[in-house]
Amino acid sequence: MSILESRPLVDVDGPSRNPAVNEWVRDIALLTKPDEIVWCDGSTREWDELTKMMVAQGTLIRLNPEWRPNSFLARSDPADVARVEDRTFICSEKQSDAGPTNNWRNPFGMREELDTLFAGSMRGRTMYVVPFSMGPLGGPISQLGVQVTDSPYVVISMQLMTRMGTAALDLIGPDTPWVPAVHSVGAPLVDAEGVRHADVAWPHNPTKYISHFPETREIWSFGSGYGGNALLGKKCFALRIASVMARDEGWLAEHMLIIKITSPEGKVYHVAAAFPSACGKTNLAMLNPSIPGWKVETIGDDIAWMRPGPDGRLRAINPERGFFGVAPGTGITTNPTAVDTVWGNSIFTNVALREDGDVWWEGLTPKAPGHLIDWQGNDWTPSSSTPAAHPNSRFTVTADQCPSIASEWDSPEGVVIDAILFGGRRPSTVPLVSQARDWSHGVFMGATMASETTAAAEGAVGRLRHDPFAMLPFCGYNITDYFGHWLTIGEKLGTDAPPIFSVNWFRKDENGKFLWPGFSENSRVIEWIVRRIEGDVEVVDTPVGKLPKVRDFNVDGLDLGYEELQSILSVDRAAWSREADEIEHYFEELGSDRIPDQLHRELSTLRANVR
Ligand code: GTP
Ligand code: SPV
Ligand code: MN
Repeated sequence: MSILESRPLVDVDGPSRNPAVNEWVRDIALLTKPDEIVWCDGSTREWDELTKMMVAQGTLIRLNPEWRPNSFLARSDPADVARVEDRTFICSEKQSDAGPTNNWRNPFGMREELDTLFAGSMRGRTMYVVPFSMGPLGGPISQLGVQVTDSPYVVISMQLMTRMGTAALDLIGPDTPWVPAVHSVGAPLVDAEGVRHADVAWPHNPTKYISHFPETREIWSFGSGYGGNALLGKKCFALRIASVMARDEGWLAEHMLIIKITSPEGKVYHVAAAFPSACGKTNLAMLNPSIPGWKVETIGDDIAWMRPGPDGRLRAINPERGFFGVAPGTGITTNPTAVDTVWGNSIFTNVALREDGDVWWEGLTPKAPGHLIDWQGNDWTPSSSTPAAHPNSRFTVTADQCPSIASEWDSPEGVVIDAILFGGRRPSTVPLVSQARDWSHGVFMGATMASETTAAAEGAVGRLRHDPFAMLPFCGYNITDYFGHWLTIGEKLGTDAPPIFSVNWFRKDENGKFLWPGFSENSRVIEWIVRRIEGDVEVVDTPVGKLPKVRDFNVDGLDLGYEELQSILSVDRAAWSREADEIEHYFEELGSDRIPDQLHRELSTLRANVR
């Protein structure tokens, strides 16, 4: 029984057409004891009031409107700067349903713990009710949710990141499914004795819980105000809960960008690509092709919901409304489109403040300004030993401000996917691009992805770890069942299944220098992939898949020697033999018995190929 079911339900007033929403809000308020309840409408007026209030309280700094109109800087507590994977829980009834990669908690035990934590957790604060839609309002692939939160920063972020407010609430009728999501920063302003304490700029709690109940499709998040921990429509709903919905209903919820490509011949393609956190999704989503005649437009930069359409082909939507993008490394040379997107109406979190009231972060411009206030509020100069912006500092902005946004980006039916890409940060072994022999080999590529860890999550950075399908922190159920689900989707799609490719922009030479220039030059890989979709170009069959013929690969105008290209496209049998050992070990860790036979067969094929 849930916390809520244990209380008597009576008719309560509330603006929702669905009495269960009104009752749930009332019950959460009884539990968390806020001073007041505000139902958010998603209006400009609400944005203005909340931002004004947060500026007055010191949570936000208004940026100089001459440079960055209607934009704000937030500085988080240094102990609340990223996702907390070790505090993220999947509370399925059976531990085996959470699987080997998730932290599992018994749902009954977790409900008791949460009941204690949330009791009075909003005392002295306002509880905001945030109805939202993931995906276009009323779309056939879209889903609805209601988040309650005691963080106004979360409210304005949800306004940018989801279709939030009255329109979403109106869609939740008495029989409409909706996902309840409870969020508290866990820092009541009034203590149990009734004594009021002063607020801080970034309230949070050292104890954090990001909990998911896949069977009842609920989210409970405590103690953090940051990103994926707190904007519950994003990772918690659109990936962890949605992956469970997708398993049950025959679709896919993925950590993928979506782009629209137009070739010089004027033909249109759509590609979805999975890269782990801070590994280049936003960059590829906003790709500025360096090769003439090619155009890339943005549909999504983080999440794709995909399902077989009426014509039997895979269709995808971006369930989000905005971008929560990594700031450092996003610059006028690496991603000018993102820089243009954040011209105004943006929230910046943990970046540096310029003397002129604008923002700066490492990589925005080649040269740092002479003096800044760093992300922690301290003076900073280029000779400082710490970065001016936190490595996981982010910008939040709506997608419609993106100059490269595709006209179909909010099409409710989504776009047909012509190819799927998997990539990670691999300093060695994995070639620049290779095509899977078939769907099953492609699923093997996704399942065996590995990547160096980044600042997107708390913990060590630069450690190579397995990150299957870039979903390691985001799959809401047993990852081995998820592999099986991908195989099932492939069977359903049959000959209409899109081809699958592996890419790696991050291969390094013996001096640790990137071999591939990356960024806008990644368009050359996109060109080769499109040529493969058309069957216009021959391949080299290698032990790990179909690779470009070095001579065919377009390096016109690129300062890259034949030998360098050959090394980026090389397949080292000894390294791949070690990789096969590593994969075998990984499969054992995941539980060989539950790994689909097809993936065991793919591993045997790899072994035989590299012998
Ligand atoms: P999340 O929002 O965390 O899911 O991440 P993301 O995958 O959208 O990350 P993003 O695109 O913001 O990647 C950020 C980092 O990847 C920055 O440090 C970029 O400089 C780096 N990056 C992106 N593309 C390339 C590339 O082609 N080559 C190299 N070397 N680095 C890249
Ligand atoms: C990621 O870590 O993959 C992100 C950022 O996209 S967050 O929303 O904080 O999870
Ligand atoms: Mn992400």
